[in-house]
Amino acid sequence: MTDHTPVPYAGPTRVLSGVQPSGALHLGNYLGALVKFARLQHEMDTFIFVADLHAITVWQDPAALAQQTREITAAYLAAGLDPAKATIFPQSAVREHSELAWIFQCVARLGWLDRMTQFKEKSGKHKERSSVGLYTYPVLQAADILVYKATHVPVGEDQKQHLELTRDIAGKFNHDYGTPAFFPQPEPLIQGPGARIMSLRDGSAKMSKSDPSDYSRINLTDDTDTISAKVRKARTDPLPLPETLEDLAARPEADNLVGIFGALTNQSKAEVLAEFGGKGFGVFKPQLEHALVMGIGPVRKELIRYLADPAEIDRILRAGAERASEVAAPTVAEVKKLVGFWGA
Ligand code: TYM
Repeated sequence: MTDHTPVPYAGPTRVLSGVQPSGALHLGNYLGALVKFARLQHEMDTFIFVADLHAITVWQDPAALAQQTREITAAYLAAGLDPAKATIFPQSAVREHSELAWIFQCVARLGWLDRMTQFKEKSGKHKERSSVGLYTYPVLQAADILVYKATHVPVGEDQKQHLELTRDIAGKFNHDYGTPAFFPQPEPLIQGPGARIMSLRDGSAKMSKSDPSDYSRINLTDDTDTISAKVRKARTDPLPLPETLEDLAARPEADNLVGIFGALTNQSKAEVLAEFGGKGFGVFKPQLEHALVMGIGPVRKELIRYLADPAEIDRILRAGAERASEVAAPTVAEVKKLVGFWGA
């Protein structure tokens, strides 16, 4: 993409990320995102939101959307986010996201958006029937991040291209308005064993909320029996587990299960292979099942507990939105001044 020489940003470090309330959360969301959010809140000022504006780029039942937002919030809390440490809020409650997104739509270039692979995947064969919002979605994502001048963005690997676009928008805005260090160049935090969890039915497709087969994913709300059934049915090959990382890389389903086990037990893939290499899936799968039940079970229990108190969730979201607005409003006020709007 366009080359903009980065200028050192002198502002404070800040973490921002979000999850769409468009379906039940799965193991990929948990390991790729939620676990990292909970860790980072102890290291930096952290803003975590529920991306409801992003969710409506595809149809969402109005009767269900607010409840889906509460469910994501409950999952954040169950994963260990603490509202006293992290600011947790619904995206639509902070109008500055939308306001900055419009200005960024006039900064981003059509060619940049044309390259976004996620739009191509999500719009499928019927591009002309997709919402315009689905196409400009990554521009709103840039506004989410930059309205807080966030410097670090923990996400799974599928968001990498959107983060590159965010950096391009920040660079072009800074360049066009002659303010070289106004927006930071946010750094994606992708590394880690959970960055790309694949489907349990197909090791070449990522685990996803939108996969029609529920057996393709472990949901955070799955009970022990469901987890067991899904692990038993998880696709494998007839060979024993490989002994080396090179051999593992050539076997996507085995690679995925080893990666999941490692992420849950805090081990590298090499360490997992040192224990299970040469052994059959009949030995490995019960251990994986155990690790999943131990890892997801307590989160599920907490999630259900938080959901039983929607008034408390709403209180957390309202307080979070208020605090988020306090940070976002001055950024938009400064941007309006830089753009030259009347009265700004
Ligand atoms: P969403 O809701 O699709 O996913 C939420 C987070 O989960 C990660 N993730 C995965 N990680 C590992 N393996 C997988 N199979 C897997 N599937 C999903 C995603 O990478 C993401 O981190 N566009 C974003 C939401 C968003 C956002 C933002 C994120 C809107 N604005 C600003 C960061 C900053 C999305 O659709 O995530």
